[in-house]
Amino acid sequence: MADLATTLSRIAAAPDLAALDAERVAALGKNGWVTALLKTLGGMSPDERLVHGPEVQGKRSTVASAIEARKAALEAAALAVRLATERIDLSLPAAETPTGSVHPVSQVMDELAEIFADLGFAVAEGPEIETDWYNFTALNFPEDHPARAMHDTFYLDSHDETGKPLLLRTHTSPVQIRAMMKHGAPIRVIAPGRVYRSDSDATHTPMFHQVEGLVIDRNITMGHLKWTLETFLKAFFERDDIAIRLRPSFFPFTEPSAEVDVGWSTEKGRRVVGGQEGWMEVLGSGMVHPRVIAAAGLDPDEWQGFAFGTGIDRLAMLKYGMGDLRQFFDGDLRWLRHYGFGALSVPTLSAGVGA
Ligand code: PHE
Repeated sequence: MADLATTLSRIAAAPDLAALDAERVAALGKNGWVTALLKTLGGMSPDERLVHGPEVQGKRSTVASAIEARKAALEAAALAVRLATERIDLSLPAAETPTGSVHPVSQVMDELAEIFADLGFAVAEGPEIETDWYNFTALNFPEDHPARAMHDTFYLDSHDETGKPLLLRTHTSPVQIRAMMKHGAPIRVIAPGRVYRSDSDATHTPMFHQVEGLVIDRNITMGHLKWTLETFLKAFFERDDIAIRLRPSFFPFTEPSAEVDVGWSTEKGRRVVGGQEGWMEVLGSGMVHPRVIAAAGLDPDEWQGFAFGTGIDRLAMLKYGMGDLRQFFDGDLRWLRHYGFGALSVPTLSAGVGA
């Protein structure tokens, strides 16, 4: 039968929790030697028990507390090992472990900001949850006009102070109003951001991205509009053979309105922007309607200007050759790795914005 000193030294030397438990079983388990001693107490006379009882109980509690102490020491050591090996150095430079990439939509937004900054445009913002007034009324959409229904608007349960339901903005045009009200005139801004319409197929997603452009000044003409768009498209698609064509169109907030087509051609079996083999529509535009200028608190007899709007996702698809818009928002890592941009390659005009 084992003795106390041997058991205590084996406990103190137990290399891990499994070995320690084996010692516990050998001493305090059903067939352990301390348990066997405890059993002998029953056969003793009261006098003998008076002497041996405390002695045996003493051994039991000495063994039990030795096990507890060793267990605590082993657990503390295991934790220390984990803390040392599972340590993450958050101060490590990101360049040493390159993961993640810039989404093509963010990349194109950066390119737009870069190109338009060079033309003197600031970046303006507005909320994605809008009121009916900013999204429609101030933009000269008549009440109950079918154009409101055309936008497939998502309405919210909450209402504004006039009792009209709040909505998810259906275009970036409400930022025209917000920018004019905040900064007055003259003004030159672009407003990139998310917009929402209840629509979904290969070329439509319920959330997509637009960029709005707005110039308000004295003596602005459609000539300025055409030059600005041509200059923008040349810089964005990084080629000089960009041809554009303005077609008469209708938007409630511009008069006259023009849809802008860009010429395309076929290169290596792919349709690319540039040349004049055919035309595709890329932008909506026009001279800002006097009622819109007045709604934003400016005098339309003094100020006029142009506005344009286009889909950022669509621009990205045309420039970088993606086929399906829905993949933009699937979060598929293979797609993101293939089409993403390096976080440190910031677009600049001198390097060609897409570099
Ligand atoms: N807001 C229009 C749309 O979503 C685009 C546009 C913007 C047209 C500005 C003209 C001027 O289709």
